[in-house]
Amino acid sequence: MEIIKCVDVVKNYTNKKITTYVLKNINIIINRGEFCAVTGPSGSGKTTLLYVMSGLEKCTSGSVEIFKKPLSLFSSKETAEIRKRRIGFVFQFYNLLPNLTVYENILLAKIISDNKEGDIAAALAVVGMEERKKHFPSQLSGGEQQRVALARAIINDPEIIFADEPTGNLDMAGGIVIMDLLKKLNNDYQKTIILVTHSEDNLKYCNRHIKLLDGRIIGDEKTGF
Ligand SMILES: Nc1ncnc2c1ncn2[C@@H]1O[C@H](COP(=O)(O)OP(=O)(O)OP(=O)(O)O)[C@@H](O)[C@H]1O
Ligand SMILES: [Mg+2]
Repeated sequence: MEIIKCVDVVKNYTNKKITTYVLKNINIIINRGEFCAVTGPSGSGKTTLLYVMSGLEKCTSGSVEIFKKPLSLFSSKETAEIRKRRIGFVFQFYNLLPNLTVYENILLAKIISDNKEGDIAAALAVVGMEERKKHFPSQLSGGEQQRVALARAIINDPEIIFADEPTGNLDMAGGIVIMDLLKKLNNDYQKTIILVTHSEDNLKYCNRHIKLLDGRIIGDEKTGF
């Protein structure tokens, strides 16, 4: 069942009369339950594609449907609601708030989403960070910070997790922990995962591999197991 559909998606950025043509006629259907890797050289449009698919950025032309409805038909309130409750984002540089503890960082995501049910202890247990809940981000390793960022992404029980190079700043062991967690979220919690990665090693966790080059899809194949 399709969960995201991009039809003839074009994305340009125009700043000070200079237009950058980033995504050029992208057509993709992402199905519920997929674990999809997106790869491509730096500047090929991977992050932009995640932003457009998740509604963080509007496309210049074409259409993006999420949960079977065109983003253009969502009110700004509905778009905000989707961002808060139905999708989760994991960024390359963790983006944790430095003055809040691990627990508070996740609590904040819960409060922003007006989520009464989210179980912070359970989210921390999923990523194995219960013992560090009173630590501040600066007191954690990079891999640990990324695990907290993942706990924050799942606290609102989203259907789709977008992860933009979540292992890019980690050593091999740290990267494996994050990839194993994403796999668990995909297998055991039925999350749809869209992962941007530069690492060939990560492809084996995924069941689909989309290759971007210069804003176009040049490959889309089933992979892994
Ligand atoms: N807000 C913006 N304004 C203008 N140009 C932008 C903007 N955001 C991205 N771009 C341009 O779009 C192109 C694609 O950027 P994007 O961040 O999607 O690449 P990427 O594939 O994620 O690269 P990387 O692997 O380095 O993260 C780049 O050439 C970038 O300069
Ligand atoms: Mg990027």
